[in-house]
Order: sequence, then C-alpha cells, then structure tokens
Amino acid sequence: MLKEIEAVATATAAPAKAAHAQPAASKAPTGMDAYWMPFTASRQFKQSPRMFAKAAGMHYWTPEGRQVLDGISGLWCVNAGHARPKIVQAIAEQAAEMDFCPPFNMAHPKSFELAERLVKITPAGLNKVFFTNSGSEAVDTALKMAIAYHRARGEGTRTRLIGRERGYHGVNFGGVSVGGMVGNRKSFGPLLGGVDHLRHTHDLARNAFTRGQPEHGAELADDLERLVQLHDASTIAAVIVEPMAGSTGVLIPPKGYLERLRAICDKHGILLIFDEVITGFGRLGSPFAATKFNVTPDLMTVAKGISNGCVPMGAVFAKGHLHDALMSGPEHMVEFPHGYTYSAHPLACAAALGTLDTYAEDGLLTRGAKMGAAFEAGVHSLRDLPNVIDIRNIGLVGAVELAPIAGQPGKRAFDIFLDCWEKGVLVRTTGDTIALSPPLIIETSHMDQLFSTLRDALKRAA
Ligand SMILES: Cc1ncc(COP(=O)(O)O)c(C=O)c1O
Repeated sequence: MLKEIEAVATATAAPAKAAHAQPAASKAPTGMDAYWMPFTASRQFKQSPRMFAKAAGMHYWTPEGRQVLDGISGLWCVNAGHARPKIVQAIAEQAAEMDFCPPFNMAHPKSFELAERLVKITPAGLNKVFFTNSGSEAVDTALKMAIAYHRARGEGTRTRLIGRERGYHGVNFGGVSVGGMVGNRKSFGPLLGGVDHLRHTHDLARNAFTRGQPEHGAELADDLERLVQLHDASTIAAVIVEPMAGSTGVLIPPKGYLERLRAICDKHGILLIFDEVITGFGRLGSPFAATKFNVTPDLMTVAKGISNGCVPMGAVFAKGHLHDALMSGPEHMVEFPHGYTYSAHPLACAAALGTLDTYAEDGLLTRGAKMGAAFEAGVHSLRDLPNVIDIRNIGLVGAVELAPIAGQPGKRAFDIFLDCWEKGVLVRTTGDTIALSPPLIIETSHMDQLFSTLRDALKRAA
C-alpha cells in the first residue's frame, strides 16, 4: 500500500529533474510585498524564496519540478503523507454537497460521526470532543474549560494556569501566556495574569544522546509542589504541558515525570491538560502520547494530524464529568459560551473522517513503533559529526542539537536547513536544534536519503 502511494506520487509529479542539480531559489510570483508571512525570516525569504507547488506521498515538488523529501510532515501535520485519495475525495465530495453549516444551535451529521469515531481511539474517559480550527484555539478552549469547570462546581477561586518553560501552546494570548518560549512572549506585553511556569525538563548534562525517554528528571515534576506552596492549590485551575515538547526542540519526558505530574495534580485537585497537537495521531508510535506513556490527562488538545493538515481543524477532548459539570441552567440557554464560526466545519469533518480511514487502513497510528528502531539508528548515526551536542528520538520524531555559533544563536541550524533544502530534503529548525518528523508512511529508503543529506550538510557546516 505504501509503495503504491510513492508510485502515484512519482507518476503525478511535475516532470522531475535530478535532485541536487537545481538552483536553491524557486520561481516566486511577481508581487511579494503584500503577504506578511507567519513565523518566517521574511526578509531572507523574499531574497531567495522557497516555494512548493505540488505534494504527494513523501514528497513536495517546487514550481520548477524539483523533488523535495518531506522530513517534517509539512509542519508536523501530514502524518499520512500527502494527497491521500480518501481524504482528497472526502473533501471534494463534501464541498459539492454542503459548503458550510452554522455550528451554533445547528449541526451536520459528519460532526457527530467524527466525534463518535474520535472518542473510540482517545484514551479512556476522554469521551467528549469540542472542535476548533487550530491548535492555538484548542489550547485556549481547554484553558477556558478548566476555569469554567471549577467555577461551575463552586471552586471559582481556581483560576491560575500553570505552564512550563520551553512549552509551546500556539500563539493566542492564553497559549502564549502558559507557553515558555521567550521569543514568542517578549514582544507582547504582560500577557494573561495569574499564570506561572514549571521548570523545563531539558538536561543535557545528565541525558545527552538518550534513545527514547531520558533516565533523569522525574523529580522535576515536584516543581508543581513548589508552585502549590507559593500560590495554594485552591487558586490553581490547571497545569498544561506538551507530553513531548515539539516546537521547542523535541524534549522527551524523563521516565516517571508525567506519572508524577499526574499524581501531584490529583493530590491537589488540579486539572492536567496534555497538549497533543504534535504528539497526537501516531507521532510517537501510539495513537496519542497519553496512550504511549499510559498517563491520562483531564483535557487533551489536538490539531494537525486530526485532518492530516488538509483542512484546518483542532479539537479538545474532555473527560465526561468536566463536560457534565457545565451542563446546567435553563435548557434554552447556551451552557458553555464559547465556539468558533468554523467549529466542526463540514470540509474539516470530511477531511478528518478520510484521515481516520486512511490511518486505519495503513495502520499508521502505531506504525511509528515499527519503524522507530530504524529511525533511531539513523538519527543517532549523526553523533560523530561536528558541533552535534545532543541527539534525541522517540517514535518517528528525532532531533539533532548543535552548538550555536558564538553570538549568532540559531544561525548554524538555519544554514543547515537551507543546505538540506537545496539538496532536496525539508527539515525544520528551532533555535540550534534540527527537528525531524516525517510522514508516518516513511520507508527505510527515505530514511537513508534524509540522514545522508543531513550528514553531508552537517559536515559542510563545520
Ligand atoms: C504543542 C502545540 N500546541 C499548539 C500549537 C498551535 O497550533 P496551531 O499552529 O494549529 O495554532 C502547536 C503548533 O505547532 C503545537 O505544537
């Protein structure tokens, strides 16, 4: 099946020219002034644009027909690979049948069908789902649910939100406030009040070059006890963490850390939110990080892989009793005053249903466990290269951390990203870490190309 996808990809691609022989800059549309690009070094980009025009299976193609191996699933989202027929067909049919359905006081059948199918694969107890359009919206929705839940049960003093240093929870005010990436926080004023942060778990001194979960650091979960001492549990609504922090450089939870965090939350009546926008839908070799680590949160946010990145969609999964606590008041009144014009959008629901079919048919939600050993061997084979100070991996995620160039943080990794792009491989960088997160349909031949290209780029950057 996976081989067939590649065959279709190659057959339908724009006339492929030899990779490695193409110029780096792509043909860009003439006017490039108006588009203000998100999270982009845009002055650099506009001098030397990198454009994609087509995608299928494991690959993108530039407008000139140069093939680029997708080493990052687009942006951690195209888990089933590109242009999967079931998803494409589902979206096309839905667009022709019904373009939009108001989600407030109205609904369409696919929203219920999708919700029912999703809660069959989520960890036990997370059996209510609220749809959003992105991970950022899912995060802010979950934070609001946590505060509203406590208020509904007479604990209205529980409003404080606890995030973690080096966490990424999207770009809305709630998510940035609980997030812990200084570059995303410093420009935007005081953010939300009543927020505090746990220490991060990244510990190169003790855990460098770990394969899978690091041995050291479970005790860092006790930082929550420190915050309880400082603020009192009666003021704390929820703790939000990425079970594996992705955007801040692939920080894998130390053994026992999440279990300990769960226990401390339970002890103090604090809700635990897992942000699974990256880890959800098979990335770690299990349907969710919660299933992989066997720790169930009270609320879980997802996006990206829910619809294979094809139509924007996010969601929050909640334990039934959280939902039920909010179901009060007169029956003609809205119980939870929150939602988006495009919540459960018909095209997104169709895409997500096609995505779930595709995941099931190809066994993708657990394929990362099968392919993880080869991926681990590949990424750790880069250990001997210059400036590599750590390598970490779990499932089909890997990271290579580099020593920064003095006075130019991020530059070494960015140069390697550009080099890989020129050589036909798309990777992602965050700070001086190179992150790899390929589509879950990856075969060992793709891994060979991914790691040999990266190896050569690391050598050249020395
Ligand atoms: C853990 C996590 N939460 C939230 C988000 C935000 O998602 P979006 O970009 O869809 O708003 C991301 C995006 O990468 C993420 O990785």
